[in-house]
Amino acid sequence: MNITAEQEKNLIIEILTKLEVPEENAIIVADVTVNADLKGFSSHGIGRFPQYITGLKIGTIQPRAEVTVEKESPATALLNGNHGFGHVVTYRGMEMAMKKARETGIGLVGINNSNHFGIAGYYSDMALRQDLVGIVIANTEPAVAPIGGKEPILGTNPLAIGIPSNGHYVSVDMATSASARGKLMEAKRRGEEIPENVALDEQGTPTIDPCAALKGSILPFGAHKGYALAFMIEIMAGPLVGAAYGKAVSGTANPEVNCTKGDLLAVIDPSKFVDPDHFKEEVDDFIAEVKSSPKIFIPGDMEVRNIKRFKKDGIPLDETLKYQLKDICQEYGVDWDDIVGS
Ligand SMILES: NC(=O)c1ccc[n+]([C@@H]2O[C@H](COP(=O)([O-])OP(=O)(O)OC[C@H]3O[C@@H](n4cnc5c(N)ncnc54)[C@H](O)[C@@H]3O)[C@@H](O)[C@H]2O)c1
Repeated sequence: MNITAEQEKNLIIEILTKLEVPEENAIIVADVTVNADLKGFSSHGIGRFPQYITGLKIGTIQPRAEVTVEKESPATALLNGNHGFGHVVTYRGMEMAMKKARETGIGLVGINNSNHFGIAGYYSDMALRQDLVGIVIANTEPAVAPIGGKEPILGTNPLAIGIPSNGHYVSVDMATSASARGKLMEAKRRGEEIPENVALDEQGTPTIDPCAALKGSILPFGAHKGYALAFMIEIMAGPLVGAAYGKAVSGTANPEVNCTKGDLLAVIDPSKFVDPDHFKEEVDDFIAEVKSSPKIFIPGDMEVRNIKRFKKDGIPLDETLKYQLKDICQEYGVDWDDIVGS
């Protein structure tokens, strides 16, 4: 079945508020999740919602946690998420980074003790909508083996960069692994195979079986370069922000243990370097130069296409996910039929 963005949003808000998540925070979680599904990142959309419900039940996600500032300077801050919802903690962190960027030219905010935040690109979008450049990196529990090894040590360590422009949505939002782990989890749920050249089983042999891949490791994207980039992110979103690194990172895919990952958010105000209108014109000029044929896309084009498509057709829910969500509704007294229809 397909549901509308509005139905998905209402469903998430209704369930989360039953679980003592303040409405203001539930709205943020719902907005990030719906945005992921609309952009086509279903691996980080409502498919991950049951994981958050487990986290709330077990207590690894604290519904009413407030972010605290551990250290601050005019351009930087280190935030403790106190195990709140990753979406809410990162949203607050980005608000702070944008404020600092407007004041000083750059805002750099590190975060620890947070939780899985969904798609990295939601937060870099917050900056680009205000004519700022936004950069988001995070580490995750291990999934990727270093080149030459077979034991997962690095995370899928996402990277998102959003750049303001007059006429285009300019955003790269990606895992540094050949596939996001969520895509493997999604294939497992749907009983599908995964593409070739994405993952290895526990013995280090290439596999298209998502269950074997989830027990084994995911390859880095772009061979040694993806590994090298994930390695650097592991440190900048780990030890640099007082968060865990390598095998000590937990809780981004398994909600039953405390989440120890970290995030680093950077915002740059172009007006502190150049005329901001001229900057956006040059971004558009560059895009025109790049897009010399309709076969050429820029980072962000896929998301724009997907948003149009899923707004028109609705967001697909596979049968397993539909029943998982219905079970959650039943458990917390939320009327599925009233929100989504039968
Ligand atoms: N929360 C976490 O811990 C975590 C971890 C890993 C990934 N993620 C999220 O998973 C999502 C999916 O990541 P992924 O690596 O599977 O994404 P992906 O492989 O689908 O790559 C997406 C990016 O590539 C760009 N792109 C695609 N085709 C293009 C083309 N032909 N030309 C130019 N650009 C093109 C897209 O616009 C997009 O920015 C992301 O939203 C990411 O933030 C989250």
